[in-house]
This record gives sequence, structure tokens and C-alpha cells, in this order.
Amino acid sequence: MLKRRPTKKPTVMDISEFRQKEFGPLMEIFDACSHLPASLYIESTAIKVPGANYNSAMISEAHFLSEDYLLNSKRNSLDLGIGISVMNYASFGIRGSLSMRHLKEQRLAATQKTVKLPPYKMVNAPLGIAIRARRSIREMSGKPMDLQTLSTILFYANGTTGDFILASETTDALPEHSLGADFVGKLRAAPSGGGLYPIYLYIVARNVKDLEDGLYIYLPLSHALHTVRTFDEQDKEAFANLAQWGVNINSAKVNLAIFFVYSLFENSRKYGDQGATFAIIEAGEMSQNMHLCCTALNLASCDIGGYEKSLSEQFLGVDGLSKHVIHLVIIGMK
Ligand SMILES: Cc1cc2nc3c(=O)[nH]c(=O)nc-3n(C[C@H](O)[C@H](O)[C@H](O)COP(=O)(O)O)c2cc1C
Repeated sequence: MLKRRPTKKPTVMDISEFRQKEFGPLMEIFDACSHLPASLYIESTAIKVPGANYNSAMISEAHFLSEDYLLNSKRNSLDLGIGISVMNYASFGIRGSLSMRHLKEQRLAATQKTVKLPPYKMVNAPLGIAIRARRSIREMSGKPMDLQTLSTILFYANGTTGDFILASETTDALPEHSLGADFVGKLRAAPSGGGLYPIYLYIVARNVKDLEDGLYIYLPLSHALHTVRTFDEQDKEAFANLAQWGVNINSAKVNLAIFFVYSLFENSRKYGDQGATFAIIEAGEMSQNMHLCCTALNLASCDIGGYEKSLSEQFLGVDGLSKHVIHLVIIGMK
């Protein structure tokens, strides 16, 4: 026979004691219960609820992807394979991969579809003032932008600012194998892990003087734009559909939507699972350069986390497998 539990006498307490002793645990119970309504078998239920409603809740076995990523990030040099992978990459591999990329860009730049950018403006604003004055600005006037302004933003974000030289190599073991003359690589305005620069800037340009509305890729080595396509009515409509970035942003007034496209294998084959982390850091470094430059030029700029990844990739013609959109910055005239 079940024993009856003795009834507990209610405890009387004032509100401050209640807050101190009871409120925390009570909220935890409330929080756990508030994740229950869909199903206890949340990972297998037919009802789809947004991950944010249950991932990492007490009853869930699913983690946030960010949590899984951090839990699984490589923790020491052995995990990262420093000894046999990263160090060794620095000889033939790096020369091979970087020179291929130079050639690829030269080939693109030599086509009819290249728009040479005018020289960038010297931005002389004091750095301290620019940092203090920078704000995310979402209100734009829709006035036309000069091509030189676009040139200036791209140069300070990711333009080439220096050289590095990899000396030519011959080895005693393979004396007949020479890698030719010294390779002169280009360094850029924003840092990049291993100098690999795996992020490409895809620019939707609208209402920029002397530039047709369209989609372009920035070519830093030649300071030019590669034309992916100029816009027809269908493109304009498709862009308006994907550019629903929030009630406070009128995308029709945005002059530049700059998508940061990460080419996964260009740094992952050196850095393994750290590749994406490095790319996200690098996107931040470039976008801050952009924002400071925009502040100095009295332009409006804002980071956008609220873009639709697959829709944006489809619009840009990016596969979403080896290349991914990882960030978006919008810029416009004030
Ligand atoms: C990664 C990231 C994503 C953001 N996404 C958006 C966004 O989708 N929409 C928006 O209006 N602002 C967005 N912002 C801007 C922030 O709201 C803004 O930086 C924050 O309110 C601080 O204001 P401040 O930049 O003017 O200093 C984003 C900022 C960052 C860094």
C-alpha cells in the first residue's frame, strides 16, 4: 500500500526572501516546462519547432551548433597537427596555392568583364576620432554614390598594401626540381591567417555613378571589379526579395550590399577545423575597416546578421558547399 506523504506546512516568507531563495529555482522549473509543449521526444517529433526553442534546454539532447563547434574545437597543437601539417605547408604548398590564386585572378582581370576601379581617395581622418564616431547607421538617403567612393571602401577593406617574398627553392634531394624565380605575394589591408585570404567580397552595387547596377567580385590584386552579371528586372526583384533585412532598413536605398564569401578549403586544408573560426575573425577585421572608412567618408554602414544564407548564396551563384556567405555589410549615402 502506498504511504501517504505527510502534508508540508506552507512556508510563509516576505517578497525579498522569496526572491532570494525561491525565485531562481522556480524560474529554472518554469524554463524547463516552457520547452515541453511540443514533445518530450523533441529530436524525433514530427512537429518542427525552431532549434532555438529547445537546443540546450534541460530536456534536449541537441546542442546549439555553436556549442558543438566550441566543444569540438581543437584544443592543442597536437590536435591541430602543427608538427606535420601547418609547418610543412609553408614551403611548396603555400607557393603553389598562392601563385595559383594570383594566376586565377590575373586571368579574371584580363577578361572583358573587368571594371578597373579609379584610384582610391586618401583617407586622413584621425583614427581615434573615427573609432569613437563609428555607429551602425541604417537610414540611407538613396542618393547616388561615386565610383571612387566604392574604390576607397574596397581598398581599405581588403586592398593590397604590401609585398611578401617567398625565395625560390631548390633542394639537394631533388636538385632538378626548381620552383622558378622568387614568388612575390601581396599582403592586404586586413590580416589573414597564413596570408591565405580565403574571403571574397561579392558586391551588389546599385545607384553607383559610372557602374551598371549589378553583381561584382572585388579583385584586390588588380584593384578591379569582376562583373558577375548586370541586373535585369528579374534580378532587381530577386534582390528585393532577399533584402528583407528588418523593418528599420529600406533596402531600396542601399548603394552597396557587400557579401563576404568564404572559400572553405582555401584555408581549411592548412588549418583544419580552425579554418571557419579564422574566416569569421577575418570577416570582422575587414568589416571594421569598412565601417571606419565609411565613418571617415560620412557614409552610412551597418553589419547585417539577418540575411537568408541559402537565398543569398543562390542569388550570388555561390554553391553553399565549398563557398559560403558568412557576413553582409550594407553601405549607403546619408
Ligand atoms: C555580427 C553583427 C550582426 C549584426 N546584424 C544586424 C542586423 O541584422 N540588423 C541591424 O540592424 N543591425 C545589425 N548589427 C548592428 C548592431 O545592432 C550594432 O552594432 C549594435 O546595436 C551596436 O551599435 P553600434 O554599431 O552603432 O555601436 C549587427 C552587428 C554585428 C556585429
